[in-house]
Amino acid sequence: MERNSELYKDLDKVLLTREEIADKVRRLGQQITRDYAGKAPVMVCILKGASVFFADLIREIDLPLTLDFMAISSYGSATKTSGVVRILKDLDNDILDRDVIVVEDIVDTGITLNYLTKILVQRGAKSLRIAALLDKPARRKVENLKVDYMCFDIPDAFVVGYGLDYNQTYRNLPDIGILSPRIYEGK
Ligand code: IMP
Ligand code: MG
Repeated sequence: MERNSELYKDLDKVLLTREEIADKVRRLGQQITRDYAGKAPVMVCILKGASVFFADLIREIDLPLTLDFMAISSYGSATKTSGVVRILKDLDNDILDRDVIVVEDIVDTGITLNYLTKILVQRGAKSLRIAALLDKPARRKVENLKVDYMCFDIPDAFVVGYGLDYNQTYRNLPDIGILSPRIYEGK
């Protein structure tokens, strides 16, 4: 998709280009390949936001990994998390004694991942690590949330693209951009 196409007109600016993202994702895949040498981790995609990142990341990891998918929702308005988390779609397979890598789009307050990691540890994962594409450290509400693999720190702005949505739209933008506030403020 071209950067002058229709969807891009709703952005204030492009924050991370597809080239910058691809470069980081490639290096993260190489690091996970080294860190998990000799292992066969299960990569868990948190739907739907992490789907694009997940698809790119798994193809950069040279290991006999397996995939699973989970959908969770945190109640709240379209741009703010409420703190209440619900499982909409659970994993298909058991993670007992497996090395699990949870792949998430963005860590904002941290509430979603904090809840999720507790559940997966209770289910007997042998190890559990988190890989996230974006981090908004200024907004963290949960202490001691350890994100093992983080690609980019970003400022406290609402971003879309590369899987991230506003009201389910903009996930297909190949770059990550700051959504113009006029879109969600209804002006
Ligand atoms: P947390 O529980 O507050 O860390 O929320 C994380 C979830 O909120 C992410 O998985 C996203 O679905 C959503 N989210 C947080 N910030 C943004 C953003 O800037 N753009 C799109 N979605 C976001
Ligand atoms: Mg989301």
